[in-house]
Amino acid sequence: MLAISSSSCSCSTATSLHPLTSATPSLNPSSLSFSSPYSYLSPLSFRLHSKTHHLKISQKPKGLRVSCSKNEPLKVMISGAPASGKGTQCELIVQKFGLVHISTGDLLRAEVSSGTEIGNKAKEFMNAGRLVPDEIVTAMVTARLSRPDAKEKGWLLDGYPRSFAQAQSLEELNIRPDIYIVLDVPDEILIDRCVGRRLDPVNGKIYHLKSFPPDSEEIKARLVTRADDTEEKVKSRLEIYKQNAAAISSTYNSLMNKIDGNRPKETVFKDLDSLLSQLQKDKATKPVKAVLQSESHLDQASSNQGKWRGIPTRLNNIPHSREIRNYFYDDVLQATQRAVNDGRTRLKVEINIPELNPEMDVYRIGTLMELVREIALSFADDGKRVKVCVQGSMGQGALAGMPLQLAGTRKILEFMDWGNDGAMGTFINIGSIGAKEVVEEDDMFILVAPQNAVGNCIIDDLKAMTDAAGKRPVILINPRLKDLPGSSGIMQTMGRDKRLEYAASFESCYFFRLLYYAGTQYPIMGAIRMTFPYSYELYRRVDEASGKEKYVPLSTFTERPTIDEINDAFIGKPRNKDKKASGIWAFLSGVF
Ligand code: AP5
Repeated sequence: MLAISSSSCSCSTATSLHPLTSATPSLNPSSLSFSSPYSYLSPLSFRLHSKTHHLKISQKPKGLRVSCSKNEPLKVMISGAPASGKGTQCELIVQKFGLVHISTGDLLRAEVSSGTEIGNKAKEFMNAGRLVPDEIVTAMVTARLSRPDAKEKGWLLDGYPRSFAQAQSLEELNIRPDIYIVLDVPDEILIDRCVGRRLDPVNGKIYHLKSFPPDSEEIKARLVTRADDTEEKVKSRLEIYKQNAAAISSTYNSLMNKIDGNRPKETVFKDLDSLLSQLQKDKATKPVKAVLQSESHLDQASSNQGKWRGIPTRLNNIPHSREIRNYFYDDVLQATQRAVNDGRTRLKVEINIPELNPEMDVYRIGTLMELVREIALSFADDGKRVKVCVQGSMGQGALAGMPLQLAGTRKILEFMDWGNDGAMGTFINIGSIGAKEVVEEDDMFILVAPQNAVGNCIIDDLKAMTDAAGKRPVILINPRLKDLPGSSGIMQTMGRDKRLEYAASFESCYFFRLLYYAGTQYPIMGAIRMTFPYSYELYRRVDEASGKEKYVPLSTFTERPTIDEINDAFIGKPRNKDKKASGIWAFLSGVF
């Protein structure tokens, strides 16, 4: 049986760096040069970006994430569950932006009603609420995209890709959208929308018996119902959509904009209009490449994300390349922003790439610091006052000391390059962990690797701090809140159950971990990734004949998968929810 361990790797190529065995860095604020162990962070590389952040209260639409080149027409992909409103919004987008609307559902329905060979093949799949085979749909879409009007006016792709294989087909043809829009609507609303939907076969308009009835009796009389709009079939379509959504999103993660589709259609369109107008404007004015997300230095990461299709490769190569680091900073940042914009306030980021796993001798404190700076600056860029908090030294007498991986970090944070816009001391402040750190001006808090240390339990301080923060977001970066017994008992006023309950109250907004065979750290078997608000994605790492590697999506999970679930997915077994972890599994689950 395949046994998978989730510990991170240690590689022979690694630059050895362990905070507890290394000397405190010598800091020189004027030159920002660091002696070992931080010497890999040159003054320049400590700036993370080739340019400094321009601190401003952003007027741009939040979360606009695009990548495009000048003088090309818009290329838009719109996705979402059945009846999320794709067709309805496409009508409005076409009216305003004149793009060529390519809806695979409409193309297939036209084939069915014309009784063509394709239509006859597609019919049974559609009527059963299943996906039509990839090769049929892909041939239709690529043929349509290659027509001159799509090239001249730009395109709006609706309902394609609908599977990872379809997304890959486009990637292989180098067909990428400028923006990937996902309409988000709760399941219970979708069923009603489908069952009440009616189509006008004459003008192609979409109506709803209750929400958007037609104006005239004449139109009403000719409306038709889609064969796949029964409750049962909608449920099956929805299930299929969910099974595929994460894998497709991972292909377009860097271009994804999620829109709340459960609002009046005009309101939804207002958001889309603003996104697309901004994108169009940017295409017309920016000289080379436009990436609007936080004036991003991360465009390199984004372009590679396409190449990597979800997970960067060569993760066993330490130190990680700047591209890989930027990829992860960007991935974490987007997830965190989505969670905060969604109103979540108690969040945790758990990123266990080899460089960020303190249990391994390839751990690099600078990578953690860069990640923290990236997140803090981005929120500050949106006008938020961010307090970056590092746990202070703890304990008394022989038990005094810094928790693992935090030695010297506060100093590093203070001396890091926070840009030329005066962010440090205004929009960014450095603090510690505890209720007294929370002042009225703070909008949010980023806590760097809070952890329990022998003799101390951070939970009480943390709890006091979150109580004081109230509804303001508190984000824990790589926390280690296991309930360690404190030998001195200092500050452990809360009972064990309460401590565990409190530690669990932080919601995961980002999770990444590599998977290995049990007891090994090589080769990488796969990876688990979760970015808010999406499911946990399980990937298998595959060696290609060319000597390269890639990560192939295996499955998705709404909750973090157990070791048994991962194992079953790797060997292709159906899910068995009742199975209990035992023996080696119990141990691994504990690690996991
Ligand atoms: P397709 O036609 O693409 O169906 P779908 O993705 O299931 O989406 P729908 O058309 O049902 O919904 P929609 O999001 O466009 O919503 P709409 O605007 O109409 O595909 C059909 C089938 O073809 C698939 O099941 C599959 O078999 C096959 N197929 C297609 N593409 C394929 C591919 N790539 N690969 C394989 N097979 C493929 O709105 C729905 C209703 O809600 C309407 O009544 C509308 O009036 C109402 N409404 C819309 N917006 C709002 C709002 N804001 N508030 C209230 N009501 C609203």
